[in-house]
Amino acid sequence: MVREEVFVRCKAAIATIPLPQVDATDRGEPRGPLIVTSEIPGPRSQELSARLSQYQNADAVQFFVDYERSQGNYVVDVDGNVLLDIFTQIASLPLGYNHPRLIKAMQKPENLATVINRPALGSYPPIDYVERLQTSLLSVAPPGLRQVQTMGCGSCSVENGMKAINMAYQRRIRGPRPYTEGEMGSCLVNQSPGSPKLSFMSFSNAFHGRTMGALSLTHAKWYVKLDFPVPEWPIAPFPQLRYPLEEFVRENHAEERRCLEQVRDLIYTWDKRGEPVSGICIEPIQGDGGDNHASAAFFQGLQDICDETGVYLMLDEVQTGGGVSGKYWAHEHFRLRHAPHVVAFSKRMLSGGFYFADELRPTEGYRIYNTWTGDPTRLILLEQVIKEVMEKGLMAKAELVGSYMLDGLRVLQSEFPGVLSNARGLGTLCAVDVRDSDTRAQVVRRMRNRGVNLGVCGAVGIRLRPSLLFKHHHVDIFLDKLRTTIAEM
Ligand SMILES: Cc1ncc(COP(=O)(O)O)c(C=O)c1O
Repeated sequence: MVREEVFVRCKAAIATIPLPQVDATDRGEPRGPLIVTSEIPGPRSQELSARLSQYQNADAVQFFVDYERSQGNYVVDVDGNVLLDIFTQIASLPLGYNHPRLIKAMQKPENLATVINRPALGSYPPIDYVERLQTSLLSVAPPGLRQVQTMGCGSCSVENGMKAINMAYQRRIRGPRPYTEGEMGSCLVNQSPGSPKLSFMSFSNAFHGRTMGALSLTHAKWYVKLDFPVPEWPIAPFPQLRYPLEEFVRENHAEERRCLEQVRDLIYTWDKRGEPVSGICIEPIQGDGGDNHASAAFFQGLQDICDETGVYLMLDEVQTGGGVSGKYWAHEHFRLRHAPHVVAFSKRMLSGGFYFADELRPTEGYRIYNTWTGDPTRLILLEQVIKEVMEKGLMAKAELVGSYMLDGLRVLQSEFPGVLSNARGLGTLCAVDVRDSDTRAQVVRRMRNRGVNLGVCGAVGIRLRPSLLFKHHHVDIFLDKLRTTIAEM
């Protein structure tokens, strides 16, 4: 069957599925989940997966989505199942599906040329680009940072943040003198002095992406790393805290002190080895690695060590940024003494990129560069997202809904102590552990068949990443279905 035929057939089949019920009070969102197939993925999803498998490995596909019909917090699959989405495209939809404000922005004729003509931003930016940056990314820049560079994805943002750090580190050593012929020649054959022996520190269980630099900092999942050669850079232990944090203050403090001591030791060891640490990369809350938290004091201590040793600090806010923590940037909760040197973002910011300290600004063009370096269309959308977040007070709401969800998870974990544990969260960045990975897989599968789409993290965590439109009644639906699911198991 030719591709066009399949497409027409699928569209025709999907068109026969009744539209989800609409709740007029909630911007056209369905009233709740609606399940029409015995298992998800349903038959149409499976058929499309089989077809996709002809051309690529499709094992990671969960189900095919009808993006036209998905609305707000509800994702609609191609079989007509309506699911409450608490994973939101791997934590990357700030306002859920088909937000009217974003639709309106894309329908404006004056935005058409930006959508159609994707520019090589580093060299041919559009007329309104400076203004777009100001009204979007710069309007929510982390306190103390006013330089920004857009990128295509999260990995790319971390990767180029590392580059900016390494360049600044070398600039500090080199001083104002120009590059030598030796430096410029040796870097082309991966030799020093042009390719200096520097190292970059990361933490156990970190996830910073899949490009080679970012991958070297990633330690969360074997299948992300296996078979790729990466530099043997220092890996410090990320604190393994006990939850609830307020009940284990003394133990957690000791654990964090242990980790910080190792950070300091590693910096001195690698310095002596002749491969000094130029930068440290860390997530405010480790996401893929298991939703692992650390305290404000830990991050303050880490910044102190960086200041003491001249190491640059990069906070990877790819998963935590965008307001869901209750502040635009999760690291704002840490009350750091000054801004980190780099804050990497992507996902809910719709564009990848990084904010950086003035000191990290490259001194020549083309040093931080690629063909697109981002996409101004994403900034048009982000501008609207930020307006919605600010006008509707969505960060404060995320804080309230998040604490309601966390309270609910704690109640459930006391009802099912053998199954659920370690409920934790900041804003709506919540997670809970399940007894073991097999049980977790069952819980996630059954919840999906009940109409709730969840994410996972670490070995046994369930990761909750709702949109900023998630409300108390959505939490109730989620908790109610989780209770039923665990009770029946
Ligand atoms: C903290 C963090 N950094 C970086 C990345 C990589 O982002 P991307 O998948 O867009 O390359 C992710 C992705 O999940 C992430 O969670």
